[in-house]
Amino acid sequence: EKQYEFILTSRPADGVGLITLNRPKALNALSTPLFTELNDAVKAFDDDDGVRAVVLTGSERAFAAGADIKEMKDKQFAEVFKGKFLESWSLLTTVRKPIIAAVSGYALGGGCELALMCDIILASPTAVFGQPEISIGVIPGGGGTQRLAHAIGKSRTMELVLTGRNFSAQEAAEWGVVSRVVGEGEGVVLKEAIELAQVIASKSAIAVQAGKEAVNAAYEHTLNEGLRYERRVFHSLFATKDQKEGMAAFAEKRKPTWSHS
Ligand code: CAA
Repeated sequence: EKQYEFILTSRPADGVGLITLNRPKALNALSTPLFTELNDAVKAFDDDDGVRAVVLTGSERAFAAGADIKEMKDKQFAEVFKGKFLESWSLLTTVRKPIIAAVSGYALGGGCELALMCDIILASPTAVFGQPEISIGVIPGGGGTQRLAHAIGKSRTMELVLTGRNFSAQEAAEWGVVSRVVGEGEGVVLKEAIELAQVIASKSAIAVQAGKEAVNAAYEHTLNEGLRYERRVFHSLFATKDQKEGMAAFAEKRKPTWSHS
């Protein structure tokens, strides 16, 4: 694996790529150099046929405590506008392979937004989410106002964004921000995220990627457009080897062998 300064990458299981944010002294604050590495690693896994699902995690104490405030504090409008500050963060949302966030500890500001950019979020009971930007004189800039509003509705999003209060793993699960809260214990959320990634990696990669694309259409299209889009993508899978193999294997009462194509 390539060596990075602020992240670690590995392959904990067949078909699974793991990215660990590794800037412990700053609680994984998302500096520009860290995000450049993260984007590089995400792209490398997306381009790698040996990887079919990606897990993104931080430490026990912090998934990520937000954008790097010390890096941002002296920036001027012209600089952030012309430099498209934070625009590169959205690379994560353009990849085809599913990304699972395993969140332990603080997921604040940009850290919460980073988790929201992933396809599935699993939370440790210790996870603390929030958009505290209002308390430092700004608002979320990495998608928090939009993705939270889609996920949990206007009133809750307004309350969180305008007060900056944190919310717990339990609240995140009740509201549907995370798919579930795992059991207590060090490393449990990462272990479960890797298991989940393994299940996804055991399916046909082309079908998984089509499924991700179709679910995402629900957030971009009207219902009718989304339904038509889903049907078209569904139809297109009849051009794949894995559709033939999957259905033949069912009829022959055997396990499918995917070619992922
Ligand atoms: N940026 C830069 N450094 C950060 C940081 C951040 N977002 N969060 C934590 N750190 C640093 C601290 O400055 C501290 O460094 P030093 O040891 O050099 O002083 C180190 O990480 C450890 O942090 P604390 O001593 O503060 O740890 P704590 O346990 O007392 O508190 C915390 C933890 C509540 C998460 C607190 O660190 C905190 O409030 N962090 C900032 C959270 C925040 O406001 N995030 C939003 C950022 S803005 C944003 O993200 C914009 C956007 O939409 C993209």
